[in-house]
Amino acid sequence: MGENGAGKSTFCQMLNGIIPNSFGGRLAGKVLIHGMDTQTAGISELATKVGIVLEDPETQLFTTSVESEVAFGPENLNLPVAEIKERVAWALDVVGLGGYDQRMPTALSGGQKQRLAIAANIAMRPDILVLDEATSQLDPVGVEEVLSVARNLNQKYGITIVMATDASEMIAKLMDHVIVLDQGKLVTEGTPREVFANMDLFTKFMIRAPQVSQLAGKLKEARRPLPVFPITVDEAKKGLQQLVKNNPSAEKKAVEAQAPVSPVSETIIQVQHLDYVYQPLNVHAVKDVSFDIQRGQFVALIGQNGSGKTTVLKNLLGLLRPTGGSVLVAGQDTKTTAVAEMARHVGFVLQNPDQQLFAETVEEEVAYGPANLGQDKATVEQRVAEALKLVGLEEKRKEFPPALPKGERAKVVIASALALDPEIIILDEPTTGQDFKGCHQIMQIARQLHEQGRTVVFVTHHMALVAEYAERVIVMTGGKVLLDSFTEDIFSQPDVVRQACIIPPQITLLGQALPVEMGLPCNPLSVRIMAQAILARLNVATAV
Ligand SMILES: Nc1ncnc2c1ncn2[C@@H]1O[C@H](COP(=O)(O)OP(=O)(O)OP(=O)(O)O)[C@@H](O)[C@H]1O
Ligand SMILES: [Mg+2]
Repeated sequence: MGENGAGKSTFCQMLNGIIPNSFGGRLAGKVLIHGMDTQTAGISELATKVGIVLEDPETQLFTTSVESEVAFGPENLNLPVAEIKERVAWALDVVGLGGYDQRMPTALSGGQKQRLAIAANIAMRPDILVLDEATSQLDPVGVEEVLSVARNLNQKYGITIVMATDASEMIAKLMDHVIVLDQGKLVTEGTPREVFANMDLFTKFMIRAPQVSQLAGKLKEARRPLPVFPITVDEAKKGLQQLVKNNPSAEKKAVEAQAPVSPVSETIIQVQHLDYVYQPLNVHAVKDVSFDIQRGQFVALIGQNGSGKTTVLKNLLGLLRPTGGSVLVAGQDTKTTAVAEMARHVGFVLQNPDQQLFAETVEEEVAYGPANLGQDKATVEQRVAEALKLVGLEEKRKEFPPALPKGERAKVVIASALALDPEIIILDEPTTGQDFKGCHQIMQIARQLHEQGRTVVFVTHHMALVAEYAERVIVMTGGKVLLDSFTEDIFSQPDVVRQACIIPPQITLLGQALPVEMGLPCNPLSVRIMAQAILARLNVATAV
């Protein structure tokens, strides 16, 4: 674990010898894999022992079908044909891609590509499997499934698993050991419990502890510590029951879910019976989807990998044209309006924002849109200045965008979208691969845009962010809308959202696990809200 830039990827790539053998550079000290020094052992020799899945699946997929992608490794191991077949089927099944054998990898959704990259590696059954943020685009149930498989591989075949991830709730459940890196140095290591109980790590190195551990930290600060430091919902539940029993003074209040009161004004996005079929493969990705979004709403679109979220968003932007039904955005029919015209109304950040970067400097990148629309120089300059200020990149004007860290690259793309002063902002997984700080910075920008009266629609697989920021949530599964309601209502139905591979945030699950008589929120949406409610219940007057 560690912030962006802490050195996690460099560490991962040292395990299979890519560093330093392919990248050059100078390596002091030694990395031994099975006693082999990675500097002298050949990369191909190491490749049979160490499988590595990188964060960006696009860079790893190179064949023309899902099946051949997964078969490639086992074929190189010269395994018998029958075994290759069996392993391919098994690996695809494990990552939830059974039935996609003949699909071109380029025609998969972002999360499906990531699943494929994982399958291609586990099919080789390496001795060591390294996953570098390899589940960052997976839906919550997908993360759970892939990590349980990793755990099984570990137990059944003795495979060593090394993961760079911030999925701390999963780490708490499944991992044996945590190493924390900061600025290239190992700052601490220990069991998940030892590491997450150390609140200093959270503040100093922005390690995202499980939400129940964060809650325990806040209670401890307010001098109401839980008897045992929790890392799972069960432990937190027991601890809280104890804490409340020992402090029976305060009266109980039932807390009811309330819809946020957003001024309902006018419909700015109207999707009616939208259908979308990808050609030439004839994939029916979106099926009869209808919803209205009001001006100024802050909406999250969530759901399982491949459920059609990106396809819906691209239809809102005019990047894809509906094959059935209609989409009206800011009064424009996206079926007939030019993409450039849509760009005046809708700013967007695609699932892989690096695809949107093309200029030599940050300021050229941001100026491109308004200049292209024929704005005069003074206006362009003003728009660029405002947009860069909003995302906090004023100091980086002259830098080369692709060379910036991931968090800043995403902000450049957001600034470029804002430079057109659009009424609507659409963000497709803007927080993927961002660390805790980066996620919140980006969501704060989105919140600011919302507060300015703009309409914000975003997709993410981070449910804690959805709970904290969105006022309304649309849940998709299998190309259809499963649920559409205010945020608390969505997360109050864990069994229903699971059909869309969604798991509510851990803090919400804790609220749901507690007996109602305790008088605590049943569906708390953030750690802060839960901590406040507990302290109020204990008659502690503290701001947390
Ligand atoms: N170019 C394409 N050609 C054919 N099918 C495609 C193409 N792109 C996506 N699909 C399919 O369309 C469906 C919807 O994909 P989409 O990208 O909209 O999903 P998503 O909800 O955004 O998923 P993720 O969470 O993984 O990003 C999936 O089944 C996917 O395999
Ligand atoms: Mg997508």
